[in-house]
Amino acid sequence: MNVGIFYGSSTGRTAAVAGQLAQLISTAKLYPVAEATRADFESCDLLILGSSSWCDARDRLQDDWNDAFECLHEANLKGKKVALFGIGDQVGYPDAFVDAIRVLHDVAKAAGAEVVGKWPDEDYDYHYSAAIEGDFFLGLPLDLTNQPELTESRLNGWVVQLRREAGL
Ligand SMILES: Cc1cc2nc3c(=O)[nH]c(=O)nc-3n(C[C@H](O)[C@H](O)[C@H](O)COP(=O)(O)O)c2cc1C
Repeated sequence: MNVGIFYGSSTGRTAAVAGQLAQLISTAKLYPVAEATRADFESCDLLILGSSSWCDARDRLQDDWNDAFECLHEANLKGKKVALFGIGDQVGYPDAFVDAIRVLHDVAKAAGAEVVGKWPDEDYDYHYSAAIEGDFFLGLPLDLTNQPELTESRLNGWVVQLRREAGL
């Protein structure tokens, strides 16, 4: 199974998390998303997509996603699985916590992918997130500003879940 981790990062936090994920999933290939092509997306059976959230940006995605977003939009992801992770700040941006996960979710679904790796809305303290569906986030939220001590256990748990849901 081809696994790709595609990430965009401004101050290096999402990049660091992408690196941690690559260590946990040794077969995964890391793609700084600014350099990713439609063919890169389509070459993977499981796409793990990560972005920090920026309420002042177009589509709330981190800037590296600008061109890649179009590639993803045009890609055919039928039969593929997509898992999402988002880095945000629930104290600084409590009304838009990890909104970028929603943006990536909607484009992946529109491209035909099945989204896996939804994560329970427990142990977070925020007011609103566009990335919520019922009691679950549409991907894994990480808050390296306010809950850095939870990152490792969340990542470990999420990868176990992906092994089950995506047959890693
Ligand atoms: C101007 C600005 C806007 C932000 N907007 C949001 C937001 O809407 N939602 C959120 O959860 N975090 C928001 N953040 C927090 C960043 O997503 C957070 O600092 C993240 O760790 C940056 O990760 P990166 O270094 O990988 O880009 C914002 C931060 C700044 C400085």
